[in-house]
Amino acid sequence: MNKRPLFHFTPIKNWMNDPNGLCYYKGKYHLFYQHNPENLYWGNMTWGHATSDDLFNWEHLPYAISPDIPEDIDGCFSGSGFVKDDELYLAYTGVIMTTKKINEYGNTVTVGENDLISTQLFAKSKDGFTFEKLSEPKIVAPERYCTAHFRDPKIWGKNGKYYMVLGGKKDNKGRVLFYQSEDFKNWKFVNEIYEENMGFMWECPDFFELDGKSILVFSPQGIGKEGQEHLAGYYMGDFDYETGKLTHKEFQVLDNGFELYAPQTFKDKKGRRIMIAWLVNHHPFPEENWTGMMTLPRELKIIDDKLYMYPVEEFNKYRRNLEIYKKVDTEFQIEMADKVYDIEFKLNCDKDFEIVIGDKEKKGLKLTYSSQDKRIIFDRNGAVNNFESLEIFGTKRVVNYTLSDDTDFRIIRDKNVVEIYINNGEKVFTSLVNFTEEQNFLTIVGESNVIKVYSLKN
Ligand code: FRU
Repeated sequence: MNKRPLFHFTPIKNWMNDPNGLCYYKGKYHLFYQHNPENLYWGNMTWGHATSDDLFNWEHLPYAISPDIPEDIDGCFSGSGFVKDDELYLAYTGVIMTTKKINEYGNTVTVGENDLISTQLFAKSKDGFTFEKLSEPKIVAPERYCTAHFRDPKIWGKNGKYYMVLGGKKDNKGRVLFYQSEDFKNWKFVNEIYEENMGFMWECPDFFELDGKSILVFSPQGIGKEGQEHLAGYYMGDFDYETGKLTHKEFQVLDNGFELYAPQTFKDKKGRRIMIAWLVNHHPFPEENWTGMMTLPRELKIIDDKLYMYPVEEFNKYRRNLEIYKKVDTEFQIEMADKVYDIEFKLNCDKDFEIVIGDKEKKGLKLTYSSQDKRIIFDRNGAVNNFESLEIFGTKRVVNYTLSDDTDFRIIRDKNVVEIYINNGEKVFTSLVNFTEEQNFLTIVGESNVIKVYSLKN
């Protein structure tokens, strides 16, 4: 059991996917998540629950909601949390499977991918620990929409009204359905948001306003490149609450790495917009009793019309033993045997560079830059080490981007997950890998300045 990260949330045991119900309630951060109580693979969807004071040390709690009413008997799918009148409401998708079979992992799944009936359901709590399912509202798909793919309610409030976005599918196109309510009970379908050539289903929508902009986040299925099926991104623009119309710029991915999916955001007591996402992995690491981890909690900001994300500042209190290295002209290499660290440095990107998290001979996870082509390449071929489940999301990403002569980098390694932040979160590259014992070196080939190396202790 030595592959469990120290700072990226993992379930105590068994399968986990999407973060759900993120909120700050009665003095604690709450994280709910899609969980399989039975085994290490997807199935029996139940809401796991944990609370924290700082978003890094989590107390694991009993399940919040489990499949036990007719509308959710085959699963409590993803949804959100909303605090109203000092009570915590959870909105989630209950599913009924209309056909069933047992898959290779012993879990019940549908025979055809459309053999599901989905209903949006609510539960509530007065203490944040025990939840009671509500008999109303129960929201079914509007006519002509696919009842199988109608899920993941995200609720928010503004000026005394309540709003909800839902992921949906119609005519084989992914969509977001926008609802409005005056009383939190009667929900009116107002509009749908979709675009051509944006996949067949949009999962886990989220909507928020930040620094005067409206952001619609979603996870489209069916637009991935290079064998990548899972992608998460956003539209930034202006939203009309009356008509439900979003005027937006081009779709942007949230993370330029491999697995970030199904992100959810919430606003905390300090007014920060914080995002946590699932790092998709369909199999456990060998010999581990858990599957799936979350990203580090990231604070979102908009700077010059761009969405930035950066680990919340609470993370810094886990930094220990700062070592500073002054100017390096060509190559810097350091061994970090404890596999968990946080490194900051500047690079002159008028020249090419190569950053390798790997072995002494520079085989590993690589981030390289061609100053002539203005191209960043993120390549994990050397760090997958036969861990097949990672291969399905591809091993290489190429991003055209111009970096300046004085670019900030931050690299956080937490055993087998690496998050690389460029310019304080302007571009982020996240990857799951399967490092060997020898892949404990960090090498920077390039002209770097003031390298700060912290070990991390939890
Ligand atoms: C995204 C997702 C959601 C769904 C949940 C089921 O990963 O497919 O759309 O609610 O997972 O576990």
